Amino acid sequence: MKILIVYDSYFGNTEQVALALKKSFKDDDSVDIQRISQVTTDSLTRADLLFVGSPTRKFSATPAIKSFLKKLPEKSLDGIKTAAFDTRIDILEINNRFLTFMVKLFGYAAEPLDALLRKKGGKPVLPPEGFIVKDTEGPLKEGELDRAVSWAQQALR
Ligand SMILES: Cc1cc2nc3c(=O)[nH]c(=O)nc-3n(C[C@H](O)[C@H](O)[C@H](O)COP(=O)(O)O)c2cc1C
Repeated sequence: MKILIVYDSYFGNTEQVALALKKSFKDDDSVDIQRISQVTTDSLTRADLLFVGSPTRKFSATPAIKSFLKKLPEKSLDGIKTAAFDTRIDILEINNRFLTFMVKLFGYAAEPLDALLRKKGGKPVLPPEGFIVKDTEGPLKEGELDRAVSWAQQALR
């Protein structure tokens, strides 16, 4: 199975999650990882299983990931298994009523990513998932890399 992990990252946290996923598939020779700025449509459509991960920015995915996915031709992900993830701040820890309200209304990056992947024909094999950073620039909360690996491994079952 050809696995491709595509990600965007400003401060390196989403990249760390993407790298942990890559490592967790070490028995599979055909795992590739690409930052969104390097991805080509061809490499996406050659994958059997495609992970897409983004930091949550303004309640959604990064402009680079969203515009890339939106520009993909219709049905270009037909038959490709997909899974979307993000990194995000734990809103409960911030304890800000306005932000909590906004997050409830607008959410995070993984869900809109999942929707974009579906729209292009992708077949989600995992529920979209978010991994927590302790602050804007990180680090990731303890245990999140392990949780990411457990989440991703379920795509192989
Ligand atoms: C401009 C900006 C907007 C952000 N918006 C959100 C947000 O809406 N929800 C959230 O949970 N985190 C938000 N964050 C925190 C990011 O999710 C966090 O910086 C990111 O997970 C770190 O991942 P990275 O190191 O891969 O860039 C924002 C951060 C910045 C700088």
